[in-house]
Amino acid sequence: MKGKIMLSEAYPVDILEDDPEGYQVAAQTYYELLREGAQTSTEVISLSTGEQVRLETSSLCFCTLYRDEPQHKILVLVNPQDTKTVVAVYLKESWWSVEHVLRTSDPTRQGLMKVQSFGERIVLFVLNTIVFGRLERRLDSDDMFFLPHPAKEQAKVLWRDGAAVGFYSIKMKGSLCGDGTGACYLLPVFDTVFVRRKNRCQGLGTAMLRDFCDTFHGDEALGISCPISPAMYKVLRQFLLTCPGERGRLWEVDPPGAWGQRVNIWLKVYLRERTRQDGSTVHPKCSEEDTDTPRQTSQDDGPTHFNQGESHRNGSLENQRGHRMTNNVSKLGYP
Ligand SMILES: CC(C)(COP(=O)(O)OP(=O)(O)OC[C@H]1O[C@@H](n2cnc3c(N)ncnc32)[C@H](O)[C@@H]1OP(=O)(O)O)[C@@H](O)C(=O)NCCC(=O)NCCS
Repeated sequence: MKGKIMLSEAYPVDILEDDPEGYQVAAQTYYELLREGAQTSTEVISLSTGEQVRLETSSLCFCTLYRDEPQHKILVLVNPQDTKTVVAVYLKESWWSVEHVLRTSDPTRQGLMKVQSFGERIVLFVLNTIVFGRLERRLDSDDMFFLPHPAKEQAKVLWRDGAAVGFYSIKMKGSLCGDGTGACYLLPVFDTVFVRRKNRCQGLGTAMLRDFCDTFHGDEALGISCPISPAMYKVLRQFLLTCPGERGRLWEVDPPGAWGQRVNIWLKVYLRERTRQDGSTVHPKCSEEDTDTPRQTSQDDGPTHFNQGESHRNGSLENQRGHRMTNNVSKLGYP
C-alpha cells in the first residue's frame, strides 16, 4: 500500500505499536529508498480535495515530534505549493491523510482520554502542530499557537464520534518548568487547550476546563497558563459565572506560579467588565476569603493592574515557558 492513502477502517491510533524507535527506522528506510530512486517517483497521493501530490523527497520532511526530544521525528508529506501545510503522514508503512490520522475505529475511544500510547502522542502532535498550528489557524484572529509538547507531557485528547476533536495539556505541580533554572511548578496548570473549529461553541472547551478542575479538586489553587487567548477568556468567564465555587481557585500564571506570578481570573473578568461599563479603572478592595467578588492575586502588592496578563500576551513573543507563540513568530514544528 506504499504511496496510497489508507482507506481501511483501522486507523493508525488503533494499530500502531508502542515502538517509536521501530517507527523511526521504518520511516528513515522508506525515505532513503525513495531518495535513491528505488521507489517510483511517479506515485501520487490523491487528496480528498481531488488534488494529487506526487511522492517525491522534495515534498517530504521529518518533523520534530517532541520539543524536548529532537531525535524523535515523524515523516510527513507537504503540499508542494504550500510547504508549511502537511497533507499526509507516514505511519505503518503507509501514507495517511491528516483526517485519517485523527480517526479511530475503536468505539470505546470516546470523551476525554489520557494520552498514553505512541499512537495517541502522534494524534496529539497532529492536532496541535499540524491542525491548530497551520490548517485551522487564521492569522487575523487566533493570536497564538503552541510549540510541540514535551515527550512526557500530561495531556488528554477529546474523542467524539470516532475522531479526535480537541486536547488539553497540564503542567503538573512539582514538574520542571523547563526554562533551565530548575524551577518547578507550584500548582497544577492548565497549559494548552484546543478545539477544532467545526466543534467550537458546543461546550467542549468548558468540558475540558471542568475536567481539569475536577481532576485537581483537592488543590486550593489552579493555574491557567499566560497568555490566555480572547476565546479562552470567554470560556473562563462563562465557566466562572456558572461555577462560583471555582472563582477563588483559578489564576492566570507565569511559571512557576509563585504569588507574584498569579492574577485571579475572576478578578480580571470583573475588572474588564467594570471598565467597559463605566470607562474607568476600578481598584476593588477584596478579602482573600470573598470568592464571590473577583480579587487581586498577590497577597502583598497594591491594586491589581488588570491588564497585567495582556502585557504578557502582547508584549512577549514567547512566554517564560516558551510554549505559546504569537502570530508574528513563524517557527513551527516543521519547516
Ligand atoms: C478557546 C477554545 C478552546 C474554546 O473552545 P469551545 O469548545 O469553543 O468553548 P465552549 O463551547 O465551551 O465555550 C464556552 C463559552 O464561551 C463562549 N465562547 C467560546 N469561544 C468564543 C469566541 N471565540 N467568541 C465568543 N464567545 C466564545 C461560548 O459561546 C460559550 O458561551 P455560551 O455557553 O454562552 O454559549 C477554542 O476556541 C480554541 O481552541 N481556540 C484556539 C486555541 C486557544 O485559543 N486556546 C486557548 C489558549 S489560552
